[in-house]
Amino acid sequence: MLELIMDQKDLLSIPLYTYSLSRSFLYSFEFKLLQKIFGEAPAGEQPTQEDFEKLQGQVIELFKQDSRNIVDGIYPMQVLLPESPFNHIMRLPTLITDALRSQKQKKRRESKKFEKDNKYLEDKLPEYFKRNFHFQNQGYLSEESAVLYDHQVEMLFSGTANAMRRLLIQSLKKNGGYTSSSRIRILELACGTGSSSRFLRMAFPNAHITMTDLSRPYLKTARERLKQDDNLDFLQADAAELPFKDESFDIVCSVFLFHEIPQDIRDKVIQESKRVLKIGGSMGHLDSIQLHDRPEFAVFLNNFPIEYHEPFFKNYIQHPLEEHITKAGLQNIKTELALLSKCVFSTK
Ligand SMILES: C[S@@+](CC[C@H](N)C(=O)[O-])C[C@H]1O[C@@H](n2cnc3c(N)ncnc32)[C@H](O)[C@@H]1O
Repeated sequence: MLELIMDQKDLLSIPLYTYSLSRSFLYSFEFKLLQKIFGEAPAGEQPTQEDFEKLQGQVIELFKQDSRNIVDGIYPMQVLLPESPFNHIMRLPTLITDALRSQKQKKRRESKKFEKDNKYLEDKLPEYFKRNFHFQNQGYLSEESAVLYDHQVEMLFSGTANAMRRLLIQSLKKNGGYTSSSRIRILELACGTGSSSRFLRMAFPNAHITMTDLSRPYLKTARERLKQDDNLDFLQADAAELPFKDESFDIVCSVFLFHEIPQDIRDKVIQESKRVLKIGGSMGHLDSIQLHDRPEFAVFLNNFPIEYHEPFFKNYIQHPLEEHITKAGLQNIKTELALLSKCVFSTK
């Protein structure tokens, strides 16, 4: 009987898995097309056929687990709802012109190019943040880059970025014991344009969620993307100096933040996360895997900061996130991996 139930679940997850795989083909096709148009040869050491096969194996594992999580009710099927095909297609010409701009900028190694009258380039922002991360137009400080960001990330990761982001929810629910009906307060650090925030909202419909980021244009896009309700707040805040009282939240989490910040700031962010966390609360930080997690993917990890402007990535992959978290005195540390991402769960 148990075997029958398991088979039914596997059967249910097949269409979800197939959908994710087709979506992945679309984004990889677009990415390869851009590379062809601009004739860009990849920099750094070249991965072997065997490296790519290992990576593909992990893509399949990621989509299998993601579909299984939907069938198991960890998050609803709506997480897979595609954006309007019209919006997707209409963005393509801008993506092409932006790729041309970014290629020129990359050739000139310009990583701190801001327009003089950029209203988002505020004095209060930390110096390490005033860069054109990934050679994005005006870094995280322009509305144009906020509009293109999610599509660019999905192209770069062949349509796997959202599934990797959802590892955070799997980790919080499995390790923290939270459910869809939990009436909790969640703080999301560095929410960007709200991609992971959407999934948090769907997985925790009764939670009060506060979304924070340093970038005002990215927060603006997040606000526009999420259906407004009384249980959502958006606030510009530095994750290293949070404007909240001690012990205010049940969960403090982030997605793809730690590789973007210097090593000492990583410590500060974890200390601040701990300070605003209630006793017994949970921390979940999701980011790229590090060298010790999957040494077999070292070639991909080492190439990433060479290809894209990622000033803190090389240092990030060498210093286990778990060590920062242990140093801050958190407990029950559990790490889970999915493709090129890891989620480190811990409690206060
Ligand atoms: C790679 S993006 C990830 C955004 C989003 N979480 C996602 O999954 O797409 C990194 C984000 O970190 C934000 N950020 C960087 N340093 C920050 C800091 N010290 N405090 C708050 N946000 C920060 C950036 O503005 C950007 O939105």
